[in-house]
Amino acid sequence: MKSKWVLLFLMIFQLGFQIMHCSVTYDNKAIVINGERRILISGSIHYTRSTPEMWEDLVKKAKDGGLDVIDTYVFWNVHEPSPGNYNFEGRYDLVRFLKTVQKAGMYVHLRIGPYVCAEWNFGGFPVWLKYVPGISFRTDNEPFKRAMKGFTEKIVNLMKSAKMFESQGGPIILSQVENEYGSVGKAYGGDGLNYMKWAANMAVGLGTGVPWVMCKEDDAPDPIINTCNGFYCDEFSPNKPYKPTLWTEAWSGWFTEFGGPVYERPVQDLAFGVARFIQKGGSFVNYYMYHGGTNFGRSSGGPFITTTYDYDAPIDEYGLIRQPKYGHLKELHTVIKQCEPALVSVDPVITTLGSLQQAHVFSPDSRPCAAFLSNYDPNNIAKVTFNNKHYTLSPWSISILPDCNNVAFNTAQVGVESTQLEMLVSDSKMFSWETFTEDLTVSDEGSMFTATGLLEQINVTRDTSDYLWYTTSVDIDSSESFLRGGELPKLLVQSSGHVLHVFINGEHSGSGFGSRKHRKVTYKENINLRAGSNKIALLSVAMGLPNIGGHYEEWETGVLGPVALYGLNQGKRDLSWANWTYQAGLKGEAMNIISSNARSSIKWMQDSLITQKPPPLTWHKAYFNAPDGDEPLALDMKSMGKGEAWVNGQSIGRYWTTFANGDCQGCHYAGTYRPLTCQIGCGQPTQRWYHVPRSWLKSTNNLLVLFEELGGDPSMVSLVKRSMVQ
Ligand SMILES: *[C@@H]1O[C@H](CO)[C@@H](O)[C@H](O)[C@H]1NC(C)=O
Ligand SMILES: *[C@@H]1O[C@H](CO)[C@@H](O)[C@H](O)[C@H]1NC(C)=O
Repeated sequence: MKSKWVLLFLMIFQLGFQIMHCSVTYDNKAIVINGERRILISGSIHYTRSTPEMWEDLVKKAKDGGLDVIDTYVFWNVHEPSPGNYNFEGRYDLVRFLKTVQKAGMYVHLRIGPYVCAEWNFGGFPVWLKYVPGISFRTDNEPFKRAMKGFTEKIVNLMKSAKMFESQGGPIILSQVENEYGSVGKAYGGDGLNYMKWAANMAVGLGTGVPWVMCKEDDAPDPIINTCNGFYCDEFSPNKPYKPTLWTEAWSGWFTEFGGPVYERPVQDLAFGVARFIQKGGSFVNYYMYHGGTNFGRSSGGPFITTTYDYDAPIDEYGLIRQPKYGHLKELHTVIKQCEPALVSVDPVITTLGSLQQAHVFSPDSRPCAAFLSNYDPNNIAKVTFNNKHYTLSPWSISILPDCNNVAFNTAQVGVESTQLEMLVSDSKMFSWETFTEDLTVSDEGSMFTATGLLEQINVTRDTSDYLWYTTSVDIDSSESFLRGGELPKLLVQSSGHVLHVFINGEHSGSGFGSRKHRKVTYKENINLRAGSNKIALLSVAMGLPNIGGHYEEWETGVLGPVALYGLNQGKRDLSWANWTYQAGLKGEAMNIISSNARSSIKWMQDSLITQKPPPLTWHKAYFNAPDGDEPLALDMKSMGKGEAWVNGQSIGRYWTTFANGDCQGCHYAGTYRPLTCQIGCGQPTQRWYHVPRSWLKSTNNLLVLFEELGGDPSMVSLVKRSMVQ
């Protein structure tokens, strides 16, 4: 009897506890969790850019680094590959990822979008969305709004059923709708404004019990909080005095594109930016990225975004701690936490210590005082007096005094030792290389069709493959003068992107390459034709679909013309309106060549029997045993050209090692003399190493398949270990 009463009492108590203690709100100073204002340090880790086997370790490292929150986007295109068919398995198991964060005692900021940008294919939108009749993305358009609402509801309901919102006792304390819409919306005028307001209402109407944010949306309607993204956010204030000051993307580095530079952001500057934001009253900082990871498969956007998404983040692409970045920020977080009671209690009192020096003092009545002493002079140290005590401030630095007396941390003075992250040779060798040359003569898939004129690439492939063949035939009269030693005719091909390989009568005649900034390709070269019928075959390659820009869904890809021959007896012959035959995807793809269950009809040739350099468009395969140890692994692809690689049937991504980092301008100074980001690796391939997750390997006989577009020497491809060298 008695124990029953105790149980009932406990239940009521627990219920009361839950009601009292499971809420997230905000005020002018901070996000308020369970009645308490919090200074929150957050980091972006995208679940799709690592493997579930890595999640626990990544989250633990984030927790150890002093983070309270993990931020992730939700990637619509992986979750709904065709309308109404959902996938939340494996790398896409969002709930498992969030539970991993919850288990570590951390919170989640869930950026549902569903537009996410993120250098991700099509900005996270499924490609089928583009073909919904009458659709126009991210504006006041009924078909788009219907689809967006459907997916947002789907995710919110999934989260609710897994009890993921803090209001239900789960880890999610914040959600985002849309993403960096402000300037886009303004360009769309009234439709942009209507859509933005609709998105805000739609999100709030879903009743998640936690606040919503819109980043870079300075007119975000109440109760949505507008937030800042940038290298610095010290000049940012929310659009209403009763909203807190939140920084949803503090850029820890920058993404890379093939042919572009590799970026580093010095941690001193990043720490300075964060301290400067906190001292003015900011209460939430999210590092974008804390772990950037890998764009496996064909998930990278751009076009031309690399497979690595390392971002010079505190945790590197492979899940290793990057020092001193990680450690210096960890020390910063510890000191900020010491100041938290003061920071959430009062506004800072700002005093001038010199022409470029200030003190921000948080001095609550009943709690300890905290002070930030800043020196904005990028070049000179400053000697200042604060509370009758002398302090020497490093150039471009903030010193933090959690007791208003002793300096516990200086953003410019790095005490943490650097470690070198290197690629070490492994004991694993590739064996029994074999080769299969892609040919365009056969299609057993019945997927070939002929149409008059040139078609947009993605409309044909629906992005099921990067590759689309355009072939036509040209009759050449035997009276053509070039057949008797005259000048060869020229072929002009204009492509809207992104890469083009030209074959004349089965021979590779040349290629053209776009870049992220110049997607279009113009090919104009002499070609060899013969009397009679000639086959012109153009292989157009998509390098990821765009993820940013006004109505980027309308940007075209592929050979849209003109295509013409010049220098014939008649002069120009336009081929743009010829009959073209289309074949989406490669023969090898159709034969499932990447898998151990590939069609047996594939005629592989042992490399030991091959005497010549392999022609372009060649498949290579080999086997390897897993190297010993537990270091993360990568493929060194330096001897190859351009293509895609698969291990045990899973794509590790596009590779391209012949596109060197040529646009390399050293450090970028953003109006100060302190480097904001530096460009490194000049003249080297933008990406030489490609992450092979350990969990994808068996101990022996792992199948590696490469599709190489340009040539290259597979015998030099090797497996290396990502290692920390002291
Ligand atoms: C896609 O191709 C079809 C058939 O050629 C055409 O009718 C349609 O307009 C195209 N759609 C887009 C969005 O380009
Ligand atoms: C394209 O093919 C059709 C059907 O075979 C034919 O009638 C037409 O003349 C061809 N057009 C061109 C430009 O060759």
